[in-house]
Amino acid sequence: MTSTEESLTTLDGSFPFPREPLDPPAVYRYMRAERPVVRVTLWNGKPAWLISRYDDVRAILTDPRVSADQTQPGFPNMLADIPDDQVSFLRMDPPRHLVFRKLLNKNFIIRKIDAMRPDLQRLVDDHIDAMLGAQDRRADLVASLALPVPSTVISWILGVSTEDREYFNNKTEETLQGLNPADPDAFARSLRGLTELRDYIEKIVRHKAEQEDPGDDILGQLVSAARAGEISIGDAINSGHLLIIAGHDTTASMTALGTLTLLQHPDQTDELRRDPSLIPAAVEELLRYLTVVHLIVARVAAEDIEIGGQVIPAGEAIFPLNLSANRDDAHFPDADSFDIHRNARDHFAFGYGIHQCLGQALARVELQIIFETLIRRVPTLKLAVPVDQVPFKLFSPINGVFELPVRW
Ligand code: HEM
Repeated sequence: MTSTEESLTTLDGSFPFPREPLDPPAVYRYMRAERPVVRVTLWNGKPAWLISRYDDVRAILTDPRVSADQTQPGFPNMLADIPDDQVSFLRMDPPRHLVFRKLLNKNFIIRKIDAMRPDLQRLVDDHIDAMLGAQDRRADLVASLALPVPSTVISWILGVSTEDREYFNNKTEETLQGLNPADPDAFARSLRGLTELRDYIEKIVRHKAEQEDPGDDILGQLVSAARAGEISIGDAINSGHLLIIAGHDTTASMTALGTLTLLQHPDQTDELRRDPSLIPAAVEELLRYLTVVHLIVARVAAEDIEIGGQVIPAGEAIFPLNLSANRDDAHFPDADSFDIHRNARDHFAFGYGIHQCLGQALARVELQIIFETLIRRVPTLKLAVPVDQVPFKLFSPINGVFELPVRW
């Protein structure tokens, strides 16, 4: 088959499309060139429109006729459908969505995150010390660094016990693995994981709600806002539920895949070791190149929308493909190559528009500290297995690996 025939066959199949572990589905390149706005069939048999060019993705993500409201009938939920009263602000439109952003924003402003740097540095150093203690000079980087660091940080700021880390890590993993076609139980397990994690957050929120002073951590702030009548207790639980998932698996995946990418580009990694002032730009490039959070960015047309010569009818699903936009040569020349010297700052790895990632300042600082410290302290770091033996998460709406075996 020619590559055009292969692309057309893929487009006739169901979305999400199969892909290579470290690269977007090959068909995205064809779509950007030939079918930038294309109607496909979802895994559940419903229709959806895929938007693949950078400029079109930006237009869709800022178009007020495009809705993120999960309770709309055409909304393409990648994970299990949840009851309407359990929907978080990730899946709300203005003006309600803005209530939550205003309430939570103060926790994620750059000044606040910068003040956490010494604690974050200590946390990263402690985990690297423990990792380097391994007699056989081998470790799983996911278990020893990538997962515990952001999980501990989200525990601190949310106000949940760091000892519950393993529990919420496991429940999040179950939740996010619901799309694996090779595992017939995956969907049911995903729904169960989602429910159990919500129950866990609900217990903590209700406990705080019984206290005279619910505290100044995020769950405490949400309880106070519920007392003040700004939101409901259900809203507080839903927000905590969103934050505990969004706050650790994302950064953990970026850490693991980012480390793998750096190991595959030793010359650029040497340059970063010699000149750590390049780290912030390198983190932006890793975010762009990997775009780990992709199938989460989903929308539905609230009105008929004309784009790229097509009309997306009201009520139909839209996927503005941030993973494709970030590999669009028209915006990032030679986009498939990893280059820490490019200006990648206007990537869509954190989305764009009103739902752009609330935790991006925190994620950036965590990643900067992790990569700077790892490169400096473990200069001989290597993969411990051939890359094709790394267990990649191929069916998750957040790209990542289950394990990253390393040695030094
Ligand atoms: C490298 C790490 C991260 C990546 C790549 C990432 C990516 C994203 C993306 C793409 C969106 C937009 C979703 C959409 O438009 O539908 C988003 C939203 C969000 N992220 Fe992140 N995220 C990361 C880390 C974090 C962290 C650390 C937190 C919290 C502590 C967080 C909290 C959120 C929240 C609450 C939203 C919803 C915002 C809204 O709907 O207004 N994220 N993230």
